[in-house]
Amino acid sequence: MRHPLEDSNASSNPSIHELNSSRRELLQGGLGAALAALLGPLAGCAAPAATSSSATPLLGFRSVPPSEADTVTVPPGYRAQVLTAWGEPVGIAGAAMPPWREDASADAAEQALQFGMHHDGMQFLPLQPDGRRGLLVTNHEYTDEGLLHPDGPTPWTAEKVAKSQAAHGLSVAEIELRGDGWQLVRPSRFARRITARTPCAVGGPAAGHALLRTAADPQGARVLGTFANCAMGRTPWGTVLSGEENFAFYFDAGPNPDPHQKRWGLPAQGFTRWAAHNDRFDAVKHPNEANRFGWIVELDPADPASPPVKRTALGRAAHEGAWVALTRDGRAAVYSGEDARFEYLYKFVSRDRVQPARDGLSAAQANRELLDHGTLYVAHFDAEGRGRWLPLVHGQGPLTAANGFADQGEVLVKTRQASDLLGATRLDRPEWMAIHPATGEVFCSLTNNTDRGKAGKPGPDAANPRAHNAMGQVLRWREDGDFDGETFAWRHLLLAGDPANTRAEARGDVRGDAFGCPDGLCFDPRGVLWIQTDVSAGVMRQGEFARLGNNQMLACDVGTGEVRRFLTGPVNCEITGATFAPDGRTLFVNIQHPGEPPSDISDPADINRFSRWPFGGRPRSATVVVRREDGGVIGS
Ligand code: FEO
Ligand code: CA
Ligand code: CA
Repeated sequence: MRHPLEDSNASSNPSIHELNSSRRELLQGGLGAALAALLGPLAGCAAPAATSSSATPLLGFRSVPPSEADTVTVPPGYRAQVLTAWGEPVGIAGAAMPPWREDASADAAEQALQFGMHHDGMQFLPLQPDGRRGLLVTNHEYTDEGLLHPDGPTPWTAEKVAKSQAAHGLSVAEIELRGDGWQLVRPSRFARRITARTPCAVGGPAAGHALLRTAADPQGARVLGTFANCAMGRTPWGTVLSGEENFAFYFDAGPNPDPHQKRWGLPAQGFTRWAAHNDRFDAVKHPNEANRFGWIVELDPADPASPPVKRTALGRAAHEGAWVALTRDGRAAVYSGEDARFEYLYKFVSRDRVQPARDGLSAAQANRELLDHGTLYVAHFDAEGRGRWLPLVHGQGPLTAANGFADQGEVLVKTRQASDLLGATRLDRPEWMAIHPATGEVFCSLTNNTDRGKAGKPGPDAANPRAHNAMGQVLRWREDGDFDGETFAWRHLLLAGDPANTRAEARGDVRGDAFGCPDGLCFDPRGVLWIQTDVSAGVMRQGEFARLGNNQMLACDVGTGEVRRFLTGPVNCEITGATFAPDGRTLFVNIQHPGEPPSDISDPADINRFSRWPFGGRPRSATVVVRREDGGVIGS
């Protein structure tokens, strides 16, 4: 059967040229030149994308084999160098720059001036038109308390909780290309740390809602901190969007969680024992504190004085991240997934159009309420390649007071319960998304779901076709009409897996180099889709993963489906956070949790059991810069 997506006339989505011209209009303001430099290209794209019909193939590098080595490998003719790592000072102007100490003896105050732990999503935002200077914004997703403190988590103290909180959040660093190498600019007036204690504002319909009010914040308007920040998207108005993903695991709900806490998976005791020394994480005493996390957080990195803002209109979820497209008339469509088994995929469409910089306001400042008004939808993937966006709007369908939703604020705090009622599609852990710069097609990685088809759990369906899905898949879809379309046409880009697997459902259909568990996705300026993997340390090199090696990054020509392995990481790491300089000649990539033990907590007496990356000592999450030795375009 001919698939709807194969009809080249099926979409009237804007082309890259139209998007760029609407961006040019956006950029015509008082601060136009500076802003143009800051914004960089939409969705990481500077130039019209090549297509698979081009004379020159999109993928022009020699693939690297799977690796079990404790190092980063890249193809012949490429170089990978560490730019910065956990514990290096970010270089905040006017503050101390405490250096890395190999025994991890930095205290909480010092850690709050250094790069946090376990780098994840990242964006590069150019500060000047040639893209040789810019801001690198990085999420620090979680901590390994066995590595973070000289003596590990025992005894567990208030100071260790404070250091753990200081190692979470985001970093803003200024970087510059000097000669052929990127370096940190320190000190920098832009350099900044956001931690689990930084005051954050709240925007949108749930701001001030009764469910967000606490004893410490009776207005429900000012939340201390953001944490569990996973993936990161960039907006056309110069801000970044960071997803609060595994927030639930930081709270102690005790032995008798209420139905709301149960639906969100709050454990009896938080995995990182913050509640022991920070009362607000005791969800028995402070049940609303958890409602203040699980949001998409918007940050304007060019304005160091601006608070991060939790955008409640985008819904509360175990948000992996958020990615933005523009409708033809300039409204924002924000896609976000929820990385949890059998959870959901969302789209928000703003009510208003993106505004240009004006009257001394930057574009970020001119759009500071854009994401507070609009309509949130949850996805339903029908069979036969069609799909629908179901509105999460109070008063529509079952989302009424009679069913437990007093108002739109409650729908947004309880987005999962609302999506349950609407019968949305329960997916295999939707992680990153990427929007093709030329075609407007949206891609989403579903990393795996080994519970699919288990007794008492949902079985396979069209979008999630494999039981005991250990390997994951990548979905692709095209909206009907424009990015605000309420229906779409979808198919799979690929089912991941090793073709040698004896279990048919783990074999996959990858054309080219095999891999498992797709997680990070991004398009480069030429329209190559980059895929990053996250096979967990608990199963790495075992069973169905035996031949796939360490986690890796691959390039995919979405026109032909060809996949080629580009980079492999050190032992027990995850590869994440890819972002390109606008000229496509520098790739920044994050190596998260090298040496991660299967338990997630390192033994402080044996920290090098699995890895000594990057510098031969304590394993450290780090940002790597990849360049071609001849200075050419990455991947070509
Ligand atoms: Fe933070 Fe879903 O990875
Ligand atoms: Ca991830
Ligand atoms: Ca993951």
